[in-house]
Amino acid sequence: MGLKNRIVVLSSGRGSNFCAIADGITQGKIPNAEIVGLISNRSDALALSHAKLRAISYHVIESKLYRANNKFDRPTYEKPLLSLLLSLKPDLILLAGYMLVLGKEIIQTFPKKIINIHPSLLPKFRGLHAQKQALENGEKETGCTVHWVTEGLDEGPTILQARVPILPNDTEESLSLRLLPLEHETYVSALKLILK
Ligand code: GAR
Repeated sequence: MGLKNRIVVLSSGRGSNFCAIADGITQGKIPNAEIVGLISNRSDALALSHAKLRAISYHVIESKLYRANNKFDRPTYEKPLLSLLLSLKPDLILLAGYMLVLGKEIIQTFPKKIINIHPSLLPKFRGLHAQKQALENGEKETGCTVHWVTEGLDEGPTILQARVPILPNDTEESLSLRLLPLEHETYVSALKLILK
């Protein structure tokens, strides 16, 4: 068997996309890959227990410790994050519900190695609450985008997109719930494309 691509996943919370990727690898849907670590910026992230259950090594770098007077000191927070990432020698870094912006230094250290999933049809609705933005804009459909991460927020080249209809009675919650399984499928398919 050849060498496997080393994948590191960053997640801030629930971790359902992380689970879909981890299980996609286990089930052979994503070839030539192994997850060598999960990193969260929150010690209370559910993603951590999903990693533990799957015997995947996990790490916390608590981002709130780098916040003072309502200001986030990203450069200082990203120092231990960068060291940890380097030590894991990733071939791919996957953002999966990582709710912080990645700084320039990390992005430049891993060119063409960082991928994100965003819950909209980019370039529409960048940033937070993308599903709510789509609803409020009166869209008839929205979707998700798996894309390469570049320095512009939610801006890098698209790998794969998928669409869902927006229904008349949708709320942010119902729409997000309908989109989620599609996000899982789309992330797995995108990785399959890249790693085959
Ligand atoms: C997902 O909907 C993902 O697309 C979104 O956060 C959720 C994480 O869920 N990401 C963003 O909004 C990034 N800007 P998960 O933790 O269950 O994968």
